[in-house]
Amino acid sequence: MLDGRRIVLGVTGGIAAYKAVEVCRRLVDAGAHVSPVLTSGALHFVGETTFSALASEPVQRTLWGEDSPIPHTRLGQGADLVLVCPATARVISDYRTGRSHDLLTATLVATRAPVVLCPAMHTEMWEHAAIQENLSVLASRGVHIVAPDEGRLAGGDVGAGRLADPARIVATVERVLGPGDLVGTTVLVTAGGTREAIDPVRFIGNRSSGKQGFALAAEARDRGASVILVTTTPPPPDLGVETHLVESAAQMHQAVVSRSADADVVVMAAAVADFTPVEVADSKLKKQEGPPRIVLEPTVDILAELGRSKRADQVLVGFAAETHDVAANARDKLVRKNADLLVANDVSAPGVGFEHDTNEVVIHGSEMEQNVPLTDKRLVARAVLDAVVAHRSARST
Ligand code: PMT
Repeated sequence: MLDGRRIVLGVTGGIAAYKAVEVCRRLVDAGAHVSPVLTSGALHFVGETTFSALASEPVQRTLWGEDSPIPHTRLGQGADLVLVCPATARVISDYRTGRSHDLLTATLVATRAPVVLCPAMHTEMWEHAAIQENLSVLASRGVHIVAPDEGRLAGGDVGAGRLADPARIVATVERVLGPGDLVGTTVLVTAGGTREAIDPVRFIGNRSSGKQGFALAAEARDRGASVILVTTTPPPPDLGVETHLVESAAQMHQAVVSRSADADVVVMAAAVADFTPVEVADSKLKKQEGPPRIVLEPTVDILAELGRSKRADQVLVGFAAETHDVAANARDKLVRKNADLLVANDVSAPGVGFEHDTNEVVIHGSEMEQNVPLTDKRLVARAVLDAVVAHRSARST
């Protein structure tokens, strides 16, 4: 999977440095050429010999070695990817400001290759506004952040900030270096549930968390797409894509229409209200006045409208949240809304659809049907985008 890819593995001084040994081994097993760079802090936690034995080259530690007068530019220019694992608060802050005071930070500033940071630190540090701001600036520059897990930390503490699982880190590296099959493609994704106001404090809404849409946006981004996200829920801070925050179905309609001309692919994962109150009360409805009579009118069906005006080269993907007759309803929506693909989820099944981290779907096309068994929403997103890529290549042949 990573055959011959040159990876600079930067290890910094945190207790999670011992897990970088496992990451190093997995990268080498996957065929990568790994050049380890250890900071002086890292050497308090792990031994140089361990990395030299496992990696493809001996450890490098200093800007002032005897082998090369400019090791940071050699490493930075030769790398296909620079991975920092773990990334301490200090290296994150240095990288954000361009402070290049040792071999690793100088390499980070000298490279044009993609950079993957794997933050690991105590919860208080992870949640500090300075760290979060540094990470969101780095993400907006295109740096990939592998968010830490929650769990046991040094000193017996428990909380967010534990280094991500080595398998997730290596999977991110593979994705970043991966097929890049959406380079040059603009993907518009909708996420979350719309809210239709009844009065200034109440609304009609639904249970969509935005997770499936965010997973689609992240997957498209990692495959090289330019991503436009229209969402009712703020996305994770490390998503790093163009984001339009909206609330109602009308606002989502307006935002999607204003950006859809630039999109090669539109994926409507949002749960958009089908009906909205005809009137919104100016002030909070009073209980003493008895139950209100709320008259509803249909919203614009955004997917159907896009289906009517779709360009020949655009791919339109709808979702269908169903509780019965799932396949029949999905195929009906595929045809009626003139979508190219329709992703059906049975939201009455355990672990499926709204709010869960997992989903189980069937992807319907005019000439295909693919089951994606219950799995992480990110893997569902991958399967959906694989189907998009296959659809585009079938159409162009
Ligand atoms: O956000 P999560 O918590 O992760 O949950 C994910 C999800 C369950 C919301 C997602 O997997 C999903 O099924 N999204 C579509 C939900 C939905 O509105 O389904 P629907 O069958 O009512 O609509 C069919 C399609 O038409 C959808 O693509 C929808 O975005 C679109 N639509 C619907 C109404 C409308 N006015 N305009 C639309 O474009």
